[in-house]
Amino acid sequence: MRLAMVGTGYVGLVSGTCFAEFGIDVICVDKDASKIESLKKGEIPIFEPGLEDLVEKQVAAGRLSFTTDLTQAMKDTDAVFIAVGTPPRQDNGHADLTYVHQAAKEVAQLAEGYTVVVTKSTVPVGTAREVEKIVAEHKKPDAVIDVCSNPEFLREGAAIVDFMRPDRVVIGTDSERAKEVLKEIYRPLYINETPMVVTTPESSEIIKYASNAFLATKITFINEIANLCEVAGANVQDVARAMGLDGRIGSKFLHAGPGYGGSCFPKDTLALTQTGQVMGTPQTIVEAVVKANKDRQHQMAERVIAACGGSVKNMKIGVLGVAFKPNTDDVRDAPSLVILPALQEAGAKISAHDPEAQEEASKHLKDVTWQSDPYDVAKDADALVIITEWNEYRALDMSRIAGSMQVKRLIDMRNIYKPEIMRELGFHYVPIGKPEITVKNETKLKQVS
Ligand code: UDX
Repeated sequence: MRLAMVGTGYVGLVSGTCFAEFGIDVICVDKDASKIESLKKGEIPIFEPGLEDLVEKQVAAGRLSFTTDLTQAMKDTDAVFIAVGTPPRQDNGHADLTYVHQAAKEVAQLAEGYTVVVTKSTVPVGTAREVEKIVAEHKKPDAVIDVCSNPEFLREGAAIVDFMRPDRVVIGTDSERAKEVLKEIYRPLYINETPMVVTTPESSEIIKYASNAFLATKITFINEIANLCEVAGANVQDVARAMGLDGRIGSKFLHAGPGYGGSCFPKDTLALTQTGQVMGTPQTIVEAVVKANKDRQHQMAERVIAACGGSVKNMKIGVLGVAFKPNTDDVRDAPSLVILPALQEAGAKISAHDPEAQEEASKHLKDVTWQSDPYDVAKDADALVIITEWNEYRALDMSRIAGSMQVKRLIDMRNIYKPEIMRELGFHYVPIGKPEITVKNETKLKQVS
């Protein structure tokens, strides 16, 4: 079995490498020559645990290679996966399919014999049919091409595990022949008895959006319940735990926080609402989720300002974590990109730390003092804000932090610290969805030198 992966972004690179681990010959192709050059040298453009080692292993085994030449990639290939970007269009949030259409056309022009063209990129319902039309129009007369939708459900930071041990594989095609090729590609997963859902391209495309939108809804739901808990004096973690014990609800994605971010949920929820509008079936729940999540990120900045007595003018705010979640350097649509500028706008000076995302974040955030040590962020700060729950922030020496701050104020947007311990250390502690710990006559502990 031999396959070509068009697009070496996050999805293409992880999928291509993991298919090679399955024992398939994979050739990854990208138009970006500098990216291909780097990959050939073993340099991985993204931070993803385990990926670098796996790429090295598969390249050494001769099963994985990189090229800019689609003609070379298409030679003797059984299947071509299209894993190019589908960014939201600036004007209306629709997924931009320019790269998918272009790739389909170029692949069709080169395909010989029987080839399965698989859309791996997240694409709106109807795209596989459009791709079918494009390939029919551009293919060589004697080539036979079937189109198949095969969405991915990879989480950043856990992408390799997710690929190797997925909850399910979804295959959307009308062609028996294409179905057999896809089943052969995923054969190693039969050992783990991975469920395979074989369905139509339309259902397959909707499965991807519906899954992400549902998860985004679950997060947004618990975030709003957290607001209610704060006002009512309840504890959202107890509420979420008890809810999650109901097997019909499940405990995952019920962690209240500063709002979801990342490269998928914001983009996919927006695209689904657009599809709903275009097709005359408005997705009103998801529309509300998109708005509530946007509002929440702004409310998080207001929460910090309120905790600081209503103004952060000339205050030093320390920030721990700017990535949209731990184990990634990705800051796309991260809550930090809304919270930090809003605090700066209100007059705060920001000092921040992130174990992996500082370089990425500094492309989007201006006038931030970046620290290489999380303890330096707290030094002389008027407030410390935890935005991302990196493991290394869970075990900080909080008495050392308390001693170094200007005012002992902690806004814990991921509920990683215990309120009782924060009380003992004298913190004004603001968690999410739980009673705040206030301090009488909050005063500056130190004079700024
Ligand atoms: C997600 C989907 O999980 C994955 O299946 C899909 O292929 C791509 O989108 P990812 O964006 O990598 O993956 O991250 P995920 O771990 O799902 O988290 C998404 C966002 O939700 C993060 O901002 C995270 O902080 C937030 N989140 C998640 C919460 O706020 N609370 C939760 O309980 C779970």
